[in-house]
Amino acid sequence: MRMYDLILKKKEGRALSKEEIDWMIHGYTHGDIPDYQMSAMTMAICFQGMDERETGDLTLAMRDSGDINDLSDIPGIKLDKHSTGGVGDKTSIALLPLVSSLGVKLAKMSGRGLGHTGGTIDKLESIPGFQTSMSREAFFRQVQDIGLALVGQTADLAPADKKLYALRDVTATVDQLSLIASSIMSKKLAAGADAIVLDVKSGSGAFMKTEEDAKALARAMVSIGHHAGKKICAVISNMDQPLGLAVGNALEVKEAIDTLKGKGPRDFTELVLALGSRMLVLAGLAEDTAAAESSLREAISDGRALDQLKRFITAQGGDARCVDEPELFGVAKYRTELKAAESGYVQKIDCSEVGLSSLMLGAGREKLEDKIDPLAGIILRKKVGDRVEAGECLAELYYNDEDRREAALKRLEAAYHIGPGETGSQSVILDEVN
Ligand code: URA
Repeated sequence: MRMYDLILKKKEGRALSKEEIDWMIHGYTHGDIPDYQMSAMTMAICFQGMDERETGDLTLAMRDSGDINDLSDIPGIKLDKHSTGGVGDKTSIALLPLVSSLGVKLAKMSGRGLGHTGGTIDKLESIPGFQTSMSREAFFRQVQDIGLALVGQTADLAPADKKLYALRDVTATVDQLSLIASSIMSKKLAAGADAIVLDVKSGSGAFMKTEEDAKALARAMVSIGHHAGKKICAVISNMDQPLGLAVGNALEVKEAIDTLKGKGPRDFTELVLALGSRMLVLAGLAEDTAAAESSLREAISDGRALDQLKRFITAQGGDARCVDEPELFGVAKYRTELKAAESGYVQKIDCSEVGLSSLMLGAGREKLEDKIDPLAGIILRKKVGDRVEAGECLAELYYNDEDRREAALKRLEAAYHIGPGETGSQSVILDEVN
């Protein structure tokens, strides 16, 4: 086979066979196909697309390019959850202890944050002592012992995707549906779970800006999951404004803890329950989502979820006292309030701008090697639909470096749109795909 012929074939809009896709991904992973040919291919895919069969074959070829976790030694159905990423998305930190307190087994791999969204690993590392790397044996043992373990994603998982994603990032070929779906799903499938619940975000702070695009991505990923023999479903959730009130690592962990105490923000609690109930159903631990949701509410109100969070933190070397003593996280040196310039209703919050403002305060990284400040971030005091009076606090900014204040404040100010008309609040669950 010649890569030139495959590029020409895709450029002319013809489907690549499974053998051609396998050969191309193997060759690219091993350095036999150069970046310039692969970037011509990804650009041709952007213009001509891939059908469902090609997308499935591309996913499996990338899954098979490295290690595939074998979780079969752990009895029972193993679940995984994936979010396409958003601002203030601390869902896993509340959701995983909650569902595992009811018997769901989770052997989870998570990523770090880059750009305007944060990663679960960075957030968890704001817990004093919390470790996110451990040996394979320790990881398996912890899942057996307490039903939940979480580690950073290793480079050996779907290495073809790692290389291809980096190439897409610099060739303006990230935003193609088949390429995104296969990229995410190759890693999920290699992580080895039997069932997967996807949280596909839609809105100004998400990859997919419209509900229609988010639904198309969800459909593509669910179809890949079925193609690979997994139980899978997706929830489409709102990312037109940050999720919950907290944005920034330790601030988000504290909000997740409050949620397991039954005191979380309404939208965040709703999303956790929606994803959790689908996880219980896929695991065969509930008849339907209504029964699942009432079990989840019970586990929150009787303290089982919180106990499981403490067990999880302790098992990963963290100081679980922080669950009851939030002052152990520490606080940022400086706090500034963003005040409303006029009275009215919050019409819109530019979600990615809030993420970028938080990043500028030190909570995120622009380059992979940047260090993050776990205490920096933002607490929103007003969300879309809220009434606000001139001079009232819209949001609080937390930071340790005074030089970061001005630009971050300006950015956050521009993110808020206040007007005279009542808008009503936004719903967090937009749709689902099964
Ligand atoms: N996240 C991924 O892992 N891959 C993509 O292509 C886009 C988002």
